[in-house]
Amino acid sequence: MDDLLNRTRAAVWHPCTQMKQLEAAPPLAIARGEGAWLIDTDGRRYLDAISSWWVNLFGHCNPRINAAIIDQLGKIEHVMLAGATHAPVVELSERLAALTGLGHAFYGSDGSSATEIALKMSAHYWRNAGQAEKNGFVSLQNGYHGETVGALSVTDIPLFKDTYAPLLRHSVQVPTPDARLAEAGESAEAYALRCADALEAHLAEHAATTAAFIIEPLVQGAAGMAMYHPAYLTRARELCDQYAVHLIADEIAVGFGRTGTMFACEQAQPLSQREGGEGGQPGIRPDFICLSKGITGGYLPLSAVLTTDEVYAAFYGDATSKGFLHSHSYTGNPLACRAALAVLDIFESDGVIAANREKSAQFTKTLGEVAAHPRVRHFRQCGMIWAFDVASSAPDFAARFHQMALAQGVFIRPVGNTVYVMPPYVTCADDMRGLAQALLICLNHAAV
Ligand SMILES: Cc1ncc(COP(=O)(O)O)c(C=O)c1O
Repeated sequence: MDDLLNRTRAAVWHPCTQMKQLEAAPPLAIARGEGAWLIDTDGRRYLDAISSWWVNLFGHCNPRINAAIIDQLGKIEHVMLAGATHAPVVELSERLAALTGLGHAFYGSDGSSATEIALKMSAHYWRNAGQAEKNGFVSLQNGYHGETVGALSVTDIPLFKDTYAPLLRHSVQVPTPDARLAEAGESAEAYALRCADALEAHLAEHAATTAAFIIEPLVQGAAGMAMYHPAYLTRARELCDQYAVHLIADEIAVGFGRTGTMFACEQAQPLSQREGGEGGQPGIRPDFICLSKGITGGYLPLSAVLTTDEVYAAFYGDATSKGFLHSHSYTGNPLACRAALAVLDIFESDGVIAANREKSAQFTKTLGEVAAHPRVRHFRQCGMIWAFDVASSAPDFAARFHQMALAQGVFIRPVGNTVYVMPPYVTCADDMRGLAQALLICLNHAAV
C-alpha cells in the first residue's frame, strides 16, 4: 500500500487536489469494489456514500453490466462514429429518445464535453437560423457545468473559475432559486418564482443576444446539493419559449433516477400531475438535455446531448459548414454504449424508480437522528440525495470530516460545510444505518 501511495504521489496528478495535501492525507488505495463498497489494498472496506463522484448507480462490479461489456468486447471494442455506426449506439439513441422525448443524440466522453456540445449546438442553431448575434449564455449563480474552458464559462464556482477568468468567455448569472436563500416565512416555491422574475427581467432585455439558458434541474450539485422548487423549471421553460431562448437541462449529475424520477425535468409540473416512472416523461421538455455520469452506471466515460427535431433540422442541408462538425475520438464508444444499455435494462427489469421511492423514504427515516442533530442546518432530501450543512468554524471542515468518516469506514467528501450522501441505489438498509451512525460520530466530535 505504501509503495502504491508513493508511486501515485510521484506519477499521478490527482484531480481537484492540491497535491501537497496528499502528504498528510493520502488517497485511498483501492484494490477492488463490491456493490456499494470499496476495498483497499489492506482489505479495509469503505461505503462509497457518494457513488464515486455521483456516477455509480448499481454498485461496483455489477454482474449484469460486467456481462454486457464482456459480450461487447468479443464483438467490437471501438470504431469511429464518423463514417461508421454500430448496433449499441443506435439502440442507445433510440431508447434515450423514447425516455426523454428528444430524438437526436450526439455523443461525447464526459460531462464537460456534453456541456461544450450543447453550448456550441445552441449558438450554431441560431447562426444557421440567420441570428448569429444570439450567442450569449445565461446560467444560475453557483451553477456548475464542468471545467473545460467553455463549460467553465457558464460555471459559477469561484474556487474553480477565478484563476482562469482571463481564458473564459463572459456569461451572465441570474439568482439561484436555492431554497436555503428564501426569506423567513417565504415558501421554497414563492422564492423560486421570485428568482424566475429575475430571469425574466434579464431575458426581456437581452434575448436578442442570448442563445441559451443552462441549468442543473432541481439540484445544484457542486454548489453543495442546493435544492430548489420545480416551479422554477416550469417557469424557466415558459420564459425560454416566450423569449426564444434555448433551455439546456444539464442532467449530468441528476439524470438516471437521482432525484426520484428518471430525469429531474419530469418533476417540473404541479405535484398533482406528477407521474414519473422508468422514464415517465411529462414535465418540461428542454431543447437540449446533457447526460453523463450514471449513464453507464459509473463504468465508462460517456456523455450524450439529446435535442429536438427542430434543432436537428436547422443543421440538415447541403452546406457542410451548416452541419455540426464537432467530434471526439471516442464518440459513441460501443463498450460504453453497451454498459449504458445494461443500465437501462436494469431500470426496466427491476422497477428501480419505484423501488428507490420506498428506499429514499426509509433512508430519510434512518437519517432522522442526523437531521435532528444540534449542529445540523437545512437538512434536505431529493430522491436519492441527502444533504445538510454543519455549524462549524473549522476552516478545514471538509477535510477533517472526510478523514473522520474514513476512520468509520465511510467514503464521503463534503463541499465546504455541506455534508451530502448520494449512495449507489444498491445500498441496503443495514449499510444506511451504519452510515447514519458514522455521521453521528463525526458530528459529535468537537474537532470537526
Ligand atoms: C451538473 C454537472 N455538469 C457537468 C459536470 C461535468 O462532468 P465531468 O466531470 O464528467 O466533466 C458535472 C460534474 O460533476 C456536473 O455535476
